[in-house]
Amino acid sequence: MNIRQATTDDLLAMQNCNIMNLPENYQMKYYFYHALSWPQLSFVAEDHKGRIVGYVLAKMEEDREDEPPHGHITSLSVMRTYRRLGIAEKLMTQAQKSMVEVFNAQYVSLHVRKSNRAALQLYKETLKFRIHEIEKKYYADGEDAYAMRKDLR
Ligand code: ACO
Repeated sequence: MNIRQATTDDLLAMQNCNIMNLPENYQMKYYFYHALSWPQLSFVAEDHKGRIVGYVLAKMEEDREDEPPHGHITSLSVMRTYRRLGIAEKLMTQAQKSMVEVFNAQYVSLHVRKSNRAALQLYKETLKFRIHEIEKKYYADGEDAYAMRKDLR
């Protein structure tokens, strides 16, 4: 298994992985927006044949000038047969490291469904994120999100 920075050549495979694993899907231009604006922050996991089996799509939040620089995890997923091998943890660790080294990120944020037990365990217990707030009806189907954060300083 190889973890490396994502390139624009990977975006279709990342989108495919996203469609297979999550109900939140994005147009290709949103992937390009990430890859072209913050090429250092998104990573892929590839198998021995070079097939993409997991990705993390990440960016910097630049909407508020009064807040310190911080990163955001837009999407993370790993193909079913490659789960529980530590791939998501590695992808997240790489993205967090680059956020600090390249953009001086003070913290990283993300949203996760309240019902997403696996991801919550990963974020809370393994990666030490904390719940910052609950965003009611954040998802299109009406489910609430936990807005989570992790201090990177
Ligand atoms: N049940 C309980 N704990 C889990 C589970 C699970 N199914 N999966 C991971 N964890 C926790 C465990 O503590 C695990 O450590 P352990 O295996 O030593 O017990 C730790 O997280 C690290 O697990 P990884 O192997 O790194 O996680 P994996 O590569 O399997 O990917 C992920 C986890 C991304 C949540 C995967 O299950 C997945 O793709 N799910 C569907 C998509 C998804 O929910 N993505 C996150 C949405 S939120 C967002 O994108 C910001």
